[in-house]
Amino acid sequence: MLDPDDLIVTKTDLSGKIRYGNRTFYKFAGYGPSECIGTQHNIIRHPDMPRTVFKLLWDTLKSGDEIFAYVNNRSRNGDHYWVLAHVTPSWNEKGEIIGYHSNRRAPNRAVIRDHIEPLYAALMQIEKNSGSPKDALAAGEKHVSDLLASKGMSFNELMFALGI
Ligand SMILES: Cc1cc2nc3c(=O)[nH]c(=O)nc-3n(C[C@H](O)[C@H](O)[C@H](O)COP(=O)(O)O)c2cc1C
Repeated sequence: MLDPDDLIVTKTDLSGKIRYGNRTFYKFAGYGPSECIGTQHNIIRHPDMPRTVFKLLWDTLKSGDEIFAYVNNRSRNGDHYWVLAHVTPSWNEKGEIIGYHSNRRAPNRAVIRDHIEPLYAALMQIEKNSGSPKDALAAGEKHVSDLLASKGMSFNELMFALGI
């Protein structure tokens, strides 16, 4: 579990391969730099994370926007740790996206218990009950967009409203 003063940082290239991690990242991941640099960020993916959330993350980043998202990650030894991630595109002087950057800190445990775990469990169920992987993502995205429409909020606004 992250302490309030822990900050996990990684940077990736455009394809999601890790280019940089800070010491806290390696400590929680349980992998060293030689195992992570050049490796896809899904090296720490937890199987309980809905694919819909990562689709939303990538769509948001590729459109040039930033996203706040709760993510459950898996360490090398099988432990898991929840984070609140703020993920942003990195731009060059020509205004082109050249990679991505994520800062994560200790999440609000009550928000995870009361809102995020139920939402992600519902998304996992929806994804599981859908035919193809494509249908699963479409159904997951519909669930999220219906939720946001019912609240009149964007995804980031909902995260802020929950109390990040
Ligand atoms: C900057 C950045 C940080 C990321 N951080 C994580 C992370 O902490 N955990 C994670 O599972 N995926 C993270 N991802 C998403 C992964 O690239 C990937 O989409 C996700 O792990 C799902 O992998 P899969 O599509 O192979 O199932 C990050 C992506 C970017 C661009």
